[in-house]
Amino acid sequence: MVSEIAHAKLNLSLAVTGRREDGFHELVSLVHAIALADELDFEPGGPFRLICDDKTLPTDETNLVLRAALAYQKQVPFCPTGTFHLRKRIPSGAGLGGGSSDAAATLRLLNRSIPQPLSEDNLRSMAATIGSDCPFFISERAAIMRGRGERLNEIPKVSAQTLQRRRVLVVKPAFAISTPEAYGLLAQSGRYAVSADVEQSLQSWLQKPNRDPSFLGNTLEAAVFRKYIALPTALDKVSYRLGVTFRMTGSGSACFAFYPEGETSSEVESLFKELWGSRVWFCDTQLFG
Ligand code: C5P
Repeated sequence: MVSEIAHAKLNLSLAVTGRREDGFHELVSLVHAIALADELDFEPGGPFRLICDDKTLPTDETNLVLRAALAYQKQVPFCPTGTFHLRKRIPSGAGLGGGSSDAAATLRLLNRSIPQPLSEDNLRSMAATIGSDCPFFISERAAIMRGRGERLNEIPKVSAQTLQRRRVLVVKPAFAISTPEAYGLLAQSGRYAVSADVEQSLQSWLQKPNRDPSFLGNTLEAAVFRKYIALPTALDKVSYRLGVTFRMTGSGSACFAFYPEGETSSEVESLFKELWGSRVWFCDTQLFG
């Protein structure tokens, strides 16, 4: 049995700067892994198969685990085949990259099972064919994501250090938001960020990271919040009543906030449950890596 851990991510900042000819959007995002993770085991033998503890998820070839396994097999025909066991902890439709992370974990796992593994760069190229944010999860190192998400640059040590193991609260209402829908809502509004401005504020933070980077914002929020008004309504109340500022991660519907060490988060959780109902998903975790 071979195992891999598939961490979730947060877009600590996200700016969408325009629509491309291929239908995707150009973005600039500061991305960081968090400790919250799915677990993937691989039992060699028989054809590729997926067993998942979350029965709401498909386990056929539309699941990114099997898509990744087939993409890997295409490039490495002699790779071992067998059954994947996936334990889901990362909610779907949350903007936490769960599916992409599972796919990247699949590629890493199969790559560990052959005598001459492919390079990380090779795995990242393969990951880019599976999902825009999938290449990030190959190494899970904090990065600036550009292009449609596949171009990655590591962040300077000084800014990486200020983020290390920082405590974050992540919360998700009972509803999910699909990535194409969120980008579609933004495209309808036509409100794109100006690339030069985004790069300038990001560079200033990277050079002098003296506050939490979430102030840089997420430009998908405005369009998504206009439709899903439960999000801004609750976030405003939490900010007003408890002084904690939550931002949306990626295309939502999960939101996150940096939170001080040593303080209890139960009040924050209770307030979200009061506002969104008992099916709220809440996670008190930390940045990883
Ligand atoms: O690459 P991924 O499969 O995650 O993208 C899902 C959808 O999200 C795309 O089909 C597209 O509608 C939207 N998207 C986008 N621009 C990006 C990433 C995703 O428009 N950079």
